[in-house]
Order: sequence, then structure tokens, then C-alpha cells
Amino acid sequence: MIKKAILPVAGLGTRFLPASKSIPKEMVTVVDRPAIEYVVKEAVAAGIKQIILVTHSSKASIENYFDRNFELETTLEKKNKIELLNAIQHIVPSDVSIVSVRQPQPLGLGHAVLCAKDIVGDDDFAVLLPDVLVKEKHATDSSNDLSHMIERFRQTHAAQIMVEAVPEDLVDQYGIVDVTTTPEIGQSVKMTGIVEKPAIGAAPSNLSVIGRYILPARIMQILQTTPKGAGNEIQLTDAIAALQQEATVEAFRMQGQTFDCGSKLGYLKAVLHYGVEHATLGQDFKALIQELNL
Ligand code: G1P
Repeated sequence: MIKKAILPVAGLGTRFLPASKSIPKEMVTVVDRPAIEYVVKEAVAAGIKQIILVTHSSKASIENYFDRNFELETTLEKKNKIELLNAIQHIVPSDVSIVSVRQPQPLGLGHAVLCAKDIVGDDDFAVLLPDVLVKEKHATDSSNDLSHMIERFRQTHAAQIMVEAVPEDLVDQYGIVDVTTTPEIGQSVKMTGIVEKPAIGAAPSNLSVIGRYILPARIMQILQTTPKGAGNEIQLTDAIAALQQEATVEAFRMQGQTFDCGSKLGYLKAVLHYGVEHATLGQDFKALIQELNL
């Protein structure tokens, strides 16, 4: 079963400047917690037990967030702020470990994934890109789009690439898959190709790669010999295209909704959607939006 997930967090977040000048974009808060926590929780809900952060020297605050903070815990305990104490102590369950490895040079997403090779070993694994938040339509604590992909991988051993339809004029911003039939929502179909950021008009479909992958350990070997591609970077997309020449790869059409928190507008949209559903703030936040009456 898939128990390990790689989260590449080394990117400098130029789309989120100036905030990302000194705050990792993954640490920007969506309502009351950093964006990265939503992604880690998505992985944990799908049964992941080890989160591997592929990180950068400027991003230590991500590791700190998932570590214990003895001074803060002691202070909260002394002040009898037990609810807050619980909230900061139980960000991830105790049986989930978070480890990190550095990506020494910005050589692309494929290279970032390869940096986790020694930690992943011979295991198959998941990759979750932290810019995109996936909000489930029918959320439960133990079932989400990622867990459906993991289950499908268990049954078929076919790599799973999560996709969603995007408007034709946005295809040049994503990896785009080629399929013979468009999958129904919540279903996987065999992929016949995948291309990184094709020109508008040249894309094989409008099904974009949203940044959730279930991949066999074999992809690490492929990545070792994958040449630089789009943007002069080692692309995960190119390694998946090579994998697809030797094994079945499937596109899984997601049910949830995506928010691209790497972009400013996507981030604001996420704050609105997660804000109105927040357990304690939601009602007041909704009233606030109505009050604005824009
Ligand atoms: C990466 C992937 C791309 C995918 C996208 C999703 O691109 O290379 O295939 O569609 O994430 O957000 P990036 O956005 O890092 O340029």
C-alpha cells in the first residue's frame, strides 16, 4: 500500500511575492492555518504515514510548524489553555512522521522528487504539490480523491495522475494528459500521453494535471536519466511520459474542487471557501461578506 508521500516545497514562490520574500508560500495562512497543513491532512486522510518534505534552506518554518514547540507548550500549559495546547500538539496524528530532505538546486519538479529517492527506497509513493488545495465535495476523515487513487493503484498497479478539466485558454499553464475517452468524475482511464504546458491549440485535451500523483518506485530510475524539458527543468511530466511507454498509467478525474494557492486570486478564493465553512468562524465570516454587499 502507499504509505509515503513526497511534498516538494523548495520552490521560491515568485507568483506570491512580495509575501513570499520572507514567508514560505506554503506557510501563508488560509483562514487560521498554513496552506501546507491542508495538504498534509489530505495525505493523512488517505492513509499516508510518512510525509517527505523536499525543502530549501529558506523554508525551515515549515519543518518547525510540524515539530513540537516546547516553550510554547509549557507556557500554554501553565496558563491552562488546554484547547490551544491540544490544537498545536495534534496537527498530525502521532503515527505520522514528517521528514525532510533538501533540494540543493532548483532543477525542476522531477529533480525535487528524485531528491527523496533514498528515503522512498523501493516503495511506491504519492506526490502532492503544495500550491494546490483540494477541497472535497463529500469529505470524510478517511476517504478523499487521493484515497480513491491509492485504492485504484492497489487494484491495478497502474500509476494514477489526478486531473480536472480546465478552460482551453489555460492549458499552457499545466501538464495536460491525452486519453482516448474522457473519464467520468471519480473514475480512472488509461492515459495515452502527457505533455508539460503545451501551447494553446496544441494540447491533446483540456484535462490538466492538478498535482496529485500515485507513482511506482520505478519512476525514480526513470527520473535519473530524464533530460531537461520545458523551462529547461527536469520535468516529472516527462518521466511519467517515459513510464507510460513501458507500463499502464491512468488519469483519475477528481471529484473535489481545486484552489491554486500559489496564485494570489486562487488564494483569496480559498480563504473565502474555507472561511465560510470554518467550524467556529464560518457564520460570522459569512455575515461579514454579506455586510460588504459588493
Ligand atoms: C507543475 C507540474 C504541472 C502541473 C502543475 C499543477 O507545474 O509540472 O504538470 O500541471 O504543477 O499545479 P508548476 O505549476 O510547478 O509550473
